[in-house]
Amino acid sequence: MLKTQTLLAGACALLVASAAQAESAAEAAVDFRQGVMNVYSWNVTAMRRMARGDAPFDLAAFQSHAKDLTAAAGLDVLKGFPEDSVTDESDARDEIWLNWGTFEERHAALKEQAAKLVEVAASGDQAAMKEQFGKTAGTCKGCHDDFKN
Ligand code: HEC
Repeated sequence: MLKTQTLLAGACALLVASAAQAESAAEAAVDFRQGVMNVYSWNVTAMRRMARGDAPFDLAAFQSHAKDLTAAAGLDVLKGFPEDSVTDESDARDEIWLNWGTFEERHAALKEQAAKLVEVAASGDQAAMKEQFGKTAGTCKGCHDDFKN
């Protein structure tokens, strides 16, 4: 009897431990993907301020933000979206895992448009940069509208 109780207590402890581990793996994934998103956002916000005239246009700074956004878009953020990784801290929608192919395409669109932004920024043509910035930022919204709360 005592032995059964000890075994049961042990099994319960194991279950609790593995649940806690799963929780912390999901939390770590959420931290990673939100961290990447915040790197995107830092660069997009700086470029948006220049594009809108809220900050003086600084070509070198714009080029640098475009490059950093592209570098961040090159990180495999999709790895940060394992199944069952919606936590209290997360704004991810279940649609991500129901439409994974579309989610991947939205990430590919960001990569493509950000890379184009680097090219256009190299030309120094402000009007073209603003236009391409709009397309790039549009890919953020394109994914958030369907996949983020
Ligand atoms: C492939 C889809 C996708 C693309 C593209 C995308 N996002 Fe996100 N973003 C998400 C999802 C999903 C979340 C919610 C993540 C979570 O909370 O678990 C999110 C969350 C965020 C957050 C909140 C982060 C936090 O700390 O809670 C910011 C800011 C953000 N995105 C900015 C951007 C910007 C800027 C871009 C474009 C340069 C962008 N995102 C492109 C899917 C995307």
